[in-house]
Amino acid sequence: MNVKASKHSETVGIVTVVGAGLMGQGIALQFALHGFKVHLHDTSTEILDKSIVAISDNLRLLSGMDMADGSDIPAILDRITADVSLEKSLNGSDLVIEAVYEDLDLKRSIFADLDELAPVHTIFASNTSSFMASQLVTNLTARDRVLVANWWNPPYLLPLVEVVPGPDTSQNSTDILCKLLKQAGKFPVVLQKESLGFIGNRLQFALLREAISLVESGVATAEDVDRVVTSSFGRRLAVAGPFEVFDIAGWDTILHIIDELFPHIESSKMSPDTIRKMVETGDLGVKSGRGFYTWDEDTISDRRSQISETLAALGRLDDAVNNK
Ligand SMILES: NC(=O)c1ccc[n+]([C@@H]2O[C@H](COP(=O)([O-])OP(=O)(O)OC[C@H]3O[C@@H](n4cnc5c(N)ncnc54)[C@H](O)[C@@H]3O)[C@@H](O)[C@H]2O)c1
Repeated sequence: MNVKASKHSETVGIVTVVGAGLMGQGIALQFALHGFKVHLHDTSTEILDKSIVAISDNLRLLSGMDMADGSDIPAILDRITADVSLEKSLNGSDLVIEAVYEDLDLKRSIFADLDELAPVHTIFASNTSSFMASQLVTNLTARDRVLVANWWNPPYLLPLVEVVPGPDTSQNSTDILCKLLKQAGKFPVVLQKESLGFIGNRLQFALLREAISLVESGVATAEDVDRVVTSSFGRRLAVAGPFEVFDIAGWDTILHIIDELFPHIESSKMSPDTIRKMVETGDLGVKSGRGFYTWDEDTISDRRSQISETLAALGRLDDAVNNK
């Protein structure tokens, strides 16, 4: 991924983003940064106004990290219009990214509206974290133009978008979506068939299940589990995935470890007691000020900046290595 967008004098395409929350505003920023006109849609002008402020703040953050030119910010913001009318927001749209709450009925009703109101060439992509295109297209005529495009947060710092076509999605729709994503500086990976949770979330939640189990069984504290991950294989995973890492280690050795460890690794299908209790008592993490850590405004903002700066530095390093 090219971390720094090049200058744009012509519009690359028109993207409608439905839902201007955390993900929608980040996705809107990324497309506008790369020359697209963006129509941002949500249910109230208050939400849309807040989103535009957040986009502008995040653009300044990117400029501070040398990922956008400060002098381009007004032009980038000019490429974004915000409207509570879905119909107006779909005018001329090449691609819709749906980023409303993770609620299947809500998403289905949005897709039904898109089916009725969007131009006949528009591709409809859902940023859902868990649902599949086949669950979203019931009763739609445009079934061949619907698919999942799962971004990662923050959308302007993490390069991957997992693209998951459904059984009715046409190859042409998948190709067009991938082309637009690449033009927006993203790295699309297309799944060969539908899978709940796609690839990234399945892997991430397999790790989370084991991490919670280690804490619940008294092997380590949450802080120590986090420290082990970030200072060992977590670092390596940014440059080499599990198959490459273990190709390097040698599968004969790995098979011995698999035989010893797999029987002891957590495989429960139930949600862990610790997490259920935390949610019941309102310990939701950053949202409520307490999760496994205690949070206040300063620690939240410091940690967010540190994570963003590190991700930006990794992106620059990645570009330098790939362009050398
Ligand atoms: N937060 C993450 O890290 C993350 C990562 C990847 C994918 N996702 C997925 O992205 C989607 C959005 O998540 P988020 O974290 O941005 O949520 P969010 O709560 O921050 O934003 C959701 C937005 O949708 C809007 N909305 C609700 N109903 C609407 C309607 N009928 N029309 C238009 N807008 C409507 C809300 O007003 C809100 O602004 C979810 O499907 C989520 O699973 C989230």
